[in-house]
Amino acid sequence: MRRKMAAGNWKMNGTEASLAEVDALIAAHPAPACEVLLAPPATLIAAMAARARGTKLAVGGQDCHCAASGAHTGDIAAGMLADAGASHVILGHSERRADYGETDAQVCAKATAARVAGLVSLICVGETEAQRDAGETLAIIGGQLGGSVPEGADGSNTVVAYEPVWAIGTGRTPTLAQIAEVHDFLRAELSARFGAEGAAIRLLYGGSVKPVNAAEIFATLNVDGALVGGASLKAADFGAIITALEAG
Ligand code: PGA
Repeated sequence: MRRKMAAGNWKMNGTEASLAEVDALIAAHPAPACEVLLAPPATLIAAMAARARGTKLAVGGQDCHCAASGAHTGDIAAGMLADAGASHVILGHSERRADYGETDAQVCAKATAARVAGLVSLICVGETEAQRDAGETLAIIGGQLGGSVPEGADGSNTVVAYEPVWAIGTGRTPTLAQIAEVHDFLRAELSARFGAEGAAIRLLYGGSVKPVNAAEIFATLNVDGALVGGASLKAADFGAIITALEAG
């Protein structure tokens, strides 16, 4: 049985004052029936983890380097995220793939480093609008999945997020049939490669998930939760998404 997961990605948003939203979220959802994760900017990981200690809220990073330490100015090692109190890390988000040219091989190396550091990786895949229009969606996603998910991935160390690039931050979402098609494909690919371990890897949908559309997305087969950007910044919005997931 795959445990449902609501993951929030704050991206480059939030300062110390934003931690009031975390306190509000914990107060409103002290014992969620699903796993709840927030990934703030690196500057807030330690402070958020301190607020979350002893609660059900997990804290994650938004990226890590593939090396354990060294001369990599501005980068953060997976072990440093763990040391700051993180238990998870988002890897291969389309914004990092687009802004920094991150390749599948780099994402795969980061995921291996994360596992060594004891972190759960949330590995992101997704097609652009042009790729969807060209009928390449499953080929693109299959390539990203195969290249980004390392050997040894299983349900305890890996989560995969399907995030169509054209749905991120746009208010547009795929049809439920489009989400189901991709999630069915991801489930089949992971099961073919990893067997029972692959069947245990959770699949999150991400891209303009809001309180208003969460329930129908969560009712879709092979959707085990959501990776939420904008709507994770406010406790009320993210809380409503958690409630929808608990009910689903
Ligand atoms: P969004 O972002 O919910 O703001 O569309 C999703 C994501 O990038 O994870």
